Amino acid sequence: MASLRVMGSSALTSIACSCCACYHDTCTPYVTIVVRWYLDRAPTPLLPRQDNPADACLRWSHQSAVVNGTLYLYGGRAKRDSNQDSNTWNNNFLTVDLKTGWQISSPTMEHLPQPSGPPPTSNGFLWNSGNTLYLYGGEYSDNPEASPVPYSLWSYDIPSSTWKEHPKPRTVEGVPVERSAEGSGVNIPHLGRGLYFGGHVDRFTTPGWDISVFRVYLRSLLEFTFPGFSNPAVNDGRAAGEDGIWRNLTDDGVQDSAGFTERADGVLVYVPGYSEQGILLGLAGGTNKSYTQMNVIDVYDIAEQKWYKQATTGSIPEYRVNPCAAAVSAADGSSVQVHLFAGQKLLPYGSQEQYDDMWILSIPSFTWIQVDQKDQPVPPGRSGHTCTMWNSQMVVVGGYVGTELSCDSPGIYVFNTSSLKWNTNYAALKGGNELSQQISQEQDPSALHGSYGYTVPQAVQEVIGGNAMGSATVTAPAQTVTAGPFATGRPIIYTVTQGDGSVATETATPGAGPNGSGGSGRGGPNIAAIIAGVVAALFAILAGYLGFCAWVYRRQLALYKRHVAMSQRQSLGIAAPAVLGVGPGNLKGNDSPLGKSSLDATSATSSSNVNARGGAGRGVGGYHAVPTTKNTFAGGLDRVSTNSANGGGVNTARSSTDDLMEGQEPTFLGVLLSPRRSLKVINRD
Ligand SMILES: *[C@@H]1O[C@H](CO)[C@@H](O)[C@H](O)[C@H]1NC(C)=O
Ligand SMILES: *[C@@H]1O[C@H](CO)[C@@H](O)[C@H](O)[C@H]1NC(C)=O
Ligand SMILES: *[C@@H]1O[C@H](CO)[C@@H](O)[C@H](O)[C@H]1NC(C)=O
Ligand SMILES: *[C@@H]1O[C@H](CO)[C@@H](O)[C@H](O)[C@H]1NC(C)=O
Ligand SMILES: *[C@@H]1O[C@H](CO)[C@@H](O)[C@H](O)[C@H]1NC(C)=O
Repeated sequence: MASLRVMGSSALTSIACSCCACYHDTCTPYVTIVVRWYLDRAPTPLLPRQDNPADACLRWSHQSAVVNGTLYLYGGRAKRDSNQDSNTWNNNFLTVDLKTGWQISSPTMEHLPQPSGPPPTSNGFLWNSGNTLYLYGGEYSDNPEASPVPYSLWSYDIPSSTWKEHPKPRTVEGVPVERSAEGSGVNIPHLGRGLYFGGHVDRFTTPGWDISVFRVYLRSLLEFTFPGFSNPAVNDGRAAGEDGIWRNLTDDGVQDSAGFTERADGVLVYVPGYSEQGILLGLAGGTNKSYTQMNVIDVYDIAEQKWYKQATTGSIPEYRVNPCAAAVSAADGSSVQVHLFAGQKLLPYGSQEQYDDMWILSIPSFTWIQVDQKDQPVPPGRSGHTCTMWNSQMVVVGGYVGTELSCDSPGIYVFNTSSLKWNTNYAALKGGNELSQQISQEQDPSALHGSYGYTVPQAVQEVIGGNAMGSATVTAPAQTVTAGPFATGRPIIYTVTQGDGSVATETATPGAGPNGSGGSGRGGPNIAAIIAGVVAALFAILAGYLGFCAWVYRRQLALYKRHVAMSQRQSLGIAAPAVLGVGPGNLKGNDSPLGKSSLDATSATSSSNVNARGGAGRGVGGYHAVPTTKNTFAGGLDRVSTNSANGGGVNTARSSTDDLMEGQEPTFLGVLLSPRRSLKVINRD
């Protein structure tokens, strides 16, 4: 595709034809890109392209929200043509219609009136209450440099089409709410709440920022209770007034800091059930020193306000920043499939690629399943895009596509989560409610939106059992759970009624929550005998397990001693780089639109190259990255034990307990608690 830039029109025609041939009778987005590119370059005067929102050459890092089948896109960055490298920040306000069907070459999009007031920002979040949109956070332009104004919440009332400013928001403690950017937002409409996790503050988010001060990554969890909704934790449970209620859960001290990481450029996904108010999953992202691995997932219990960690199984996606994710629920609720698409690969520095892979994280089994996209019209790799689930189709909008493609227009793609296929059209399914919930789940306000029509694909059934409606036989994480919602909770199980009126799955009632399902009714015949059997089996397993752990512990201890000896020898000879693991370093300025919006703190300074190369260099120390000679490994140990920053590729700051040995002598308890990790350590060696 890179050569397109210099091609003549005849070459374009032939490319277009071969593309068509590849994908049989339907024209794929690639063809559209080629043709549009050609039109853009035709020697006619520039067209007022913004007249049709589908015509932007590229759009990324925007904020989006879906309300009753209308997808709203606010701001972010966009280019009219591939040469444009400044003034990409905008406050355009667009819709994509998901209530009617369209071809991906010509999605039904509309420009809403340009807002006056809400600033042009990227990488913030758009919450919604079902009738109102709320714009939180985001960063201002770095080219030309814009000066942020103090944060105001802007709300958009959908029925009256009006924007409203809520200036100087403060938390319940009276502390001004900061404008964070590149954090991960999540909307929980039935609770009337939005959350925003992490992100960072710097001179493009915060007025009066001293240019010599590094970007600060936040470990905060910000909660906004929408106006008119009540939240038992604030205002004595009375409904919030017209400015809503802000709470910084970090400030309130209710966060368990051990499980609470700093993080930017990741995603948060809501999954109903398992706890009173459902859970959130934090995936991908990182900081300038460390990236979030996806072998262990951060799980947040909304009601308990606590973070936990859960190990996953299956083949695990590489760490990345700015992917998108959206979840879809089996009709009976027995599984939720989180789809994670694309994102930016961070290393090696200077050749960051945009992934185009698709992954499913199946909950509650916490198994990763890579989607087979062979022979499919997969959208070009991207990052900073958004995903919206509706009518069980995942609609991908925009994204930075690297330098290989000059334009990606309209840049909207549709993935059928039941067939696991990229489609050339979006289909507006008949039936379903305004929230596009599964019919079996319509009575449950906490049920996922957008799942209407979803059937569990064969590839997922092979892993979690059951059938297209659900009935998953894997009902708990494949890896051991020690605490938290997956230790005590359950999915919400719904009764699925077939077309002929028969019941497909018979279990508890909707909304039962963690302790409401099971248990009641249906007592087994000989409970005492069953319990005795189970207890005996448990003891046998425990004995075996302790023996195994003792063996692992002895191996690990021996290994540790060897590495300490080695790293002590090495630290005499090899100097550690001055700057460790800045990592992603999307530093190519104009070439790399994610630029400043990536993880690097110093992209605006000339030292950035050096730092970024440091990042690349340390990447090999990664837990999941390709290993690693013994030397690298020892280097890693050395680094940690001298208390410097973690290298690129290690787990998140606070999850550094997942690092290889952490530079601490292994303990038997540690092995007991996490035999798998310990096993990895000794296996790696
Ligand atoms: C969206 O649907 C919900 C539920 O039916 C309804 O309460 C709400 O008013 C609708 N919002 C808009 C903007 O149509
Ligand atoms: C929340 O509180 C923490 C700790 O005081 C602070 O660092 C962070 O900036 C606050 N977050 C926001 C978004 O205001
Ligand atoms: C990462 O950013 C922090 C500020 O957020 C800064 O103190 C630190 O030096 C940076 N680390 C590197 C390796 O650049
Ligand atoms: C998605 O795929 C499933 C399974 O092949 C099919 O039954 C369904 O009609 C498709 N949905 C759409 C919207 O194309
Ligand atoms: C479920 O748990 C909640 C809180 O732990 C408790 O108040 C409630 O009584 C429990 N319900 C049942 C049916 O056990």
